[in-house]
Formats: sequence, structure tokens, C-alpha cells
Amino acid sequence: MKINSAEFVVSNSKVDLCPKSTLPEYAFIGRSNVGKSSLINMLTGRKSLAKTSATPGKTQLINHFLINKNWHLVDLPGYGYARVSKSTKKVFQKFITAYFEKRTQMVCAFVLIDSRHKPQPIDMEFMQWMGENGIPFCIIFTKADKLKPKALEKNIENYKEEMLESWAEMPEYFITSANTQLGKEDILNYIEGINNELKLS
Ligand code: GTP
Ligand code: MG
Repeated sequence: MKINSAEFVVSNSKVDLCPKSTLPEYAFIGRSNVGKSSLINMLTGRKSLAKTSATPGKTQLINHFLINKNWHLVDLPGYGYARVSKSTKKVFQKFITAYFEKRTQMVCAFVLIDSRHKPQPIDMEFMQWMGENGIPFCIIFTKADKLKPKALEKNIENYKEEMLESWAEMPEYFITSANTQLGKEDILNYIEGINNELKLS
């Protein structure tokens, strides 16, 4: 898919205030600093569409971008845990879970994972939550340029092994770099494929 236009639409902290449009939307989610905003800029070919920062926590709102006038790309804040009072129980930030529960136009979420690190409990728990709630998602491994090819391959293999301990199969995944544009075509074609299917149904 070629990106002909990419426009910022609106930022919100409340899912109810997100665009009313029923265009298909694709959400980008992951831990703070994993490279969500950089990846969005790489995919859209717009240098500063989404704001990036070396300091974690730059994206604090639900940001909608309209792409090619026919689908939405959504930059979400990094997830961490929000404390529940009087309990050691931890939950994901409420508005993130509310977004996924309420946005029926959200057709596929991309869960971003830093390719340099071992599987992290918070990412595993988030994907578990997605699975339990029937929310379709893919994995995007980010920052591939920061590793040598062998180390990258090893990390992905480790990740798959760990996933297969709790999942029947490895979700669809992509390996990317915002610096070298690795993975750009594959992700855009994947999105285009879903958009085309939706038009037929
Ligand atoms: P928050 O909005 O704060 O949650 O972060 P984010 O997930 O949007 O991350 P962001 O895109 O702002 O990137 C965080 C840092 O990682 C920045 O310093 C980026 O330059 C760097 N970074 C992101 N993607 C890549 C990549 O593919 N390769 C390299 N080498 N650095 C990257
Ligand atoms: Mg961001």
C-alpha cells in the first residue's frame, strides 16, 4: 500500500470522545519507549506525525490519524500498571482497556515488543488480556537495527518459544526498524489485505 495522505485527527483521553466514524482502525500499543511513535512515522513516511522522545511517556493520549482518507491509525500511550487501592492487584490503565473494549471499529492491534529484550511479564500479561477478550492482534518487534542479525534471530526464536508455552500458535509477527524501514512494506500490505477483506464482507 502506498501512503498518499496521513493527517492528525484528534487526541483524547476518553474513548467516548474518539472519532465517531466507523472506518477500520489499527492500534499501536506497547510499553513506553518501545518505539510506537517512531514506527508510525516510519510507516506513514511522515517524519514528525507522531511525537517521539528519548524520555518514556511522551504519548499520553489516544491519537487518531487518518490515512489515505479510508482508515485510522491510532497511537496509544505506553502501558504500565495502574495501582488499585487497598489491593496488590494491578490492572492496565483503564482507558487503554476501555479503548479496546469499546472501539468495535478496531480491527487489528499491533503489540510492539523491543526485539532486544527477553519476554517481559507485562507484555505477556497484556497479550493474555487481549486473548481473553477476543481482541485480534499481531506482534511487531522493534529496533531490529540495534542488534546483530544472529542475536536478533536468537531473540525472536526465544520469544516464539515462550509464547508457545501459553498460546497454541505464534501470532502473526513483523520485525521492524524505524531507522532502516525494515518491515514497512509487510505491515502496510497486511493492513491493506484486511481493509480489502472488510470491503468485500
Ligand atoms: P512513548 O510515547 O513515550 O510511550 O514512547 P514510544 O513507544 O512512542 O517511543 P518513541 O517512538 O518515542 O521512541 C523511543 C526512543 O527509541 C526514541 O529515542 C527513538 O529514537 C528510539 N527508537 C524508536 N524506534 C527505533 C528503531 O527502530 N531503531 C532505533 N535505533 N531507535 C529507535
Ligand atoms: Mg509515543
